[in-house]
Amino acid sequence: MSEAVVMEVKNLGKSVASGDTPLTILHDISFQVRKGESVAIVGASGSGKSTLLGLLAGLDAPTAGSVRLDGQDLASLDEDGRAALRGRLLGFVFQSFQLLPALSALENVMLPLELNGSARGKARQQAEAMLERVGLGHRLNHYPKHLSGGEQQRVALARAFVVKPQILLADEPTGNLDGATGTQIIDLMFEMNAEQGATLILVTHDNGLANRCGRILRLASGRLLD
Ligand SMILES: Nc1ncnc2c1ncn2[C@@H]1O[C@H](COP(=O)(O)OP(=O)(O)OP(=O)(O)O)[C@@H](O)[C@H]1O
Ligand SMILES: [Mg+2]
Repeated sequence: MSEAVVMEVKNLGKSVASGDTPLTILHDISFQVRKGESVAIVGASGSGKSTLLGLLAGLDAPTAGSVRLDGQDLASLDEDGRAALRGRLLGFVFQSFQLLPALSALENVMLPLELNGSARGKARQQAEAMLERVGLGHRLNHYPKHLSGGEQQRVALARAFVVKPQILLADEPTGNLDGATGTQIIDLMFEMNAEQGATLILVTHDNGLANRCGRILRLASGRLLD
């Protein structure tokens, strides 16, 4: 039996106002992703990868088409509903990390667990364990501004992984990591894929990472190539 469809993208488009004429960033994108798949999204800088990822997570609204996550049309939910669905299903790693500057590494990773209702002690234990897995057990109490770019990226990855998301969306998850650390993080993502059946949707410029994925979606000027 084939696995269930966890994401269904239909005729998705995104245009923005830019001067007098609208600028179309994404054109008529359609694809499906099944539970447990690993999918790489590749394409040149400016081809629309980050914009697409934001739409898939419901962080941004499309101007055409639809995204269904676990059968739910994101457009049918209000902001709170989308946030609840994200909390239940998704881990998201932004290209710009988006760590909260006033929180330590440990507190940043504890936050999604607490938002999902975990008790503080349990959240702390799980967050510590995940930071250890990304090689930051010695940086728990550092604030983001005192972490290197690659360390911040690993905190962002730990924050996404710690809730054991069914779907992990990551934008250049290894963009700031050296070869060995990058390999360690990629291994961790594929362990989650194998152990928990987590679906991986990864934007990457790294051919090695793209080739480890089961499928590659190629974007060029906002269109999906076949
Ligand atoms: N809000 C916006 N207003 C105007 N243009 C935008 C907006 N958001 C994105 N763009 C443009 O849309 C295009 C796609 O941007 P996007 O960030 O999705 O690219 P990307 O494929 O992720 O690139 P990179 O590999 O450099 O991260 C770019 O040309 C960008 O300048
Ligand atoms: Mg991008």
